[in-house]
Amino acid sequence: DLKIAVIGGGSSYTPELIEGFIKRYNELPVKDLYLVDIEEGKEKLEIVGGLAKRMVGKAGVGINIHLTLDRREAIKDADFVVTQFRVGGIDARIRDEKIPLKYDVIGQETTGPGGFAKAQRTIPVILDVCKDIEELAPNAWLINFTNPSGVITETVLKHTNVKAIGLCNVPIGMVYGVAEMLEVDPKRVYIDFAGLNHLVWGTHIYLDGEDITEKLIDSFAGGKSLSMKNVPQLPWDPDFIKSLGMYPCPYHRYYYLTDQMLEKQKEEAATVGTRGEVVKKLEQELFELYKDPNLNIKPPQLEKRGGAYYSDAACSLICSIYNDKKDIHVVNVRNNGTIADLPDDVVIETNAIIDRNGAHPINIGHVPAKIRGLMQAVKAYEELTIEAGVKGDYYTALQALTIHPLVPSAMIAKKILDDIIEQNRDYLPQY
Ligand code: NAD
Ligand code: G6P
Ligand code: MN
Ligand code: MN
Repeated sequence: DLKIAVIGGGSSYTPELIEGFIKRYNELPVKDLYLVDIEEGKEKLEIVGGLAKRMVGKAGVGINIHLTLDRREAIKDADFVVTQFRVGGIDARIRDEKIPLKYDVIGQETTGPGGFAKAQRTIPVILDVCKDIEELAPNAWLINFTNPSGVITETVLKHTNVKAIGLCNVPIGMVYGVAEMLEVDPKRVYIDFAGLNHLVWGTHIYLDGEDITEKLIDSFAGGKSLSMKNVPQLPWDPDFIKSLGMYPCPYHRYYYLTDQMLEKQKEEAATVGTRGEVVKKLEQELFELYKDPNLNIKPPQLEKRGGAYYSDAACSLICSIYNDKKDIHVVNVRNNGTIADLPDDVVIETNAIIDRNGAHPINIGHVPAKIRGLMQAVKAYEELTIEAGVKGDYYTALQALTIHPLVPSAMIAKKILDDIIEQNRDYLPQY
C-alpha cells in the first residue's frame, strides 16, 4: 500500500500536489497521504487539509488524507517523503530579503545571502527529518522541494543515508515557456539542461527531436522574455542572449543583470514590498479561499505564486520511480562526473533517466568557459554553505558569503553574516 508523507503539509501549495495525485491515481494509487506540520502551522494545516479532503472526495479517488503534527507517525514505513517546509515561516523569508538590500546586495530567498540564511535555518531540520527516515522508513525516497533545493539535497546526500532527489519547477517552466513561444504542445519540446538549481542553462532546445537552439535564440533575443511569477521580468539584451547562445533561467537575471535587478528590488521594497511581503498577503487571500466549504478544486488564484507546475514536477517524478518508467526528468542529483568541471559529490540540476533505482543523469562532459566560471563559483559557495550549516562554523560561513559572486567584499559579507546570525538566533542551533 502506497504511503506518502508531506513535511510542511500546511503549505498553500498543497492543493497543487493533491491535484497531481488525483490526476495520476490510476498509475499511482496513493492509499495514505500524511500532511505533517508543526504547532505554528496547525491552523494552516487544518484549512488546507480540509480542502485536500474535499478535493479527493469530489474526485472520488481512494486517497486517505491524514493531518498530523507527529512527523514520526507520518514517516513510518512511507514510500515517499516530500519535503516542502519553510523554517521560520514567511517572516524569516522577509528578513532574508531585507538584510542584503541594506548593503546594496540582491535580497532574494534562494539566490545570494538570502539563500544562505535560508540554508542555515533549514539544514538542522532536514538532518533531523532524515534521521527519522533512516530509522523509520529506510527504503523511502525523499523528494525535496525545500529551498534552496540543490543545497538541501546536497546536504542530504553528503551527510545522511537517505535516498534523495531534489526538484524545482524552473526547468519544467522553461519547457512550457518555449512551448508557449512556439505555440506547440509542451510534449514536443525537449531541453538539455546543465547547471545548478536556480542557475541552470538550457544548452540545447529541440522541437520533435530537431535542434532549434539557434532559431529560438534569435526570436528570444528579439524581445520575448520568459520568467517566473516571483522573478521580475526584466528584458534580456539581444546581443547578450546571442553571445550566450543558450537559454538562461529566470534567476540568471540576478547574476547577469545585477544592477538593474537591484534597482528593481529596492523600488519594489519601497512600494509594494519585497516578494516575501507580497506573498504574505497573497497567502492570506489563498487561505481565506481555502476555508470555503464549497471549494473542492485547486483555485486558479494559486497561479499567482511562483510554484507553477510544481505538482507536475513532483507527482510525475514519484510516478516514474514507482512505475520504473525510465523516462527523463530534470532533477537535482549527485554529479558523479556528469559535468566534468565539478566535483563528483556535489548536486547538479540536469536531465536524468528515472527508474525504480532513482535518477541516472545523462552525461554532459565539460561545459563552455562562458558558463563554467559562474557555475563553479556558485557551487563553491554552496559547498561552503553546506559545511557551515552542518558545523555551525562562522569562518566557513564567512568564506561562503565572501566568495558568492553577488557579494562585493569580505567586509560586506561579514556585516551581512552578523546580521543573519543575529536575526535568526532562534533557528540556528548549530551556531
Ligand atoms: P510556507 O511558509 O507555507 O511553509 C510550508 C509549511 O512548512 C508551513 O505550514 C509551516 O508551518 C511548515 N513548517 C515550518 N517548519 C517546519 C518544520 N520544522 N517541520 C514541518 N513543517 C514545518 O512555505 P511555502 O511557500 O509553501 O514553501 C515551502 C517550501 O517550499 C519553501 O522552502 C519554499 O522555498 C519551497 N518551494 C520550492 C519550490 C521549488 O522550486 N523547489 C517551489 C515552491 C516552493
Ligand atoms: C519558483 C521557484 C521556487 C520558489 C518560488 C517562489 O517557483 O522555483 O523555488 O520557491 O518560485 O515563489 P513565491 O510565490 O513564494 O515567491
Ligand atoms: Mn525552484
Ligand atoms: Mn564576492
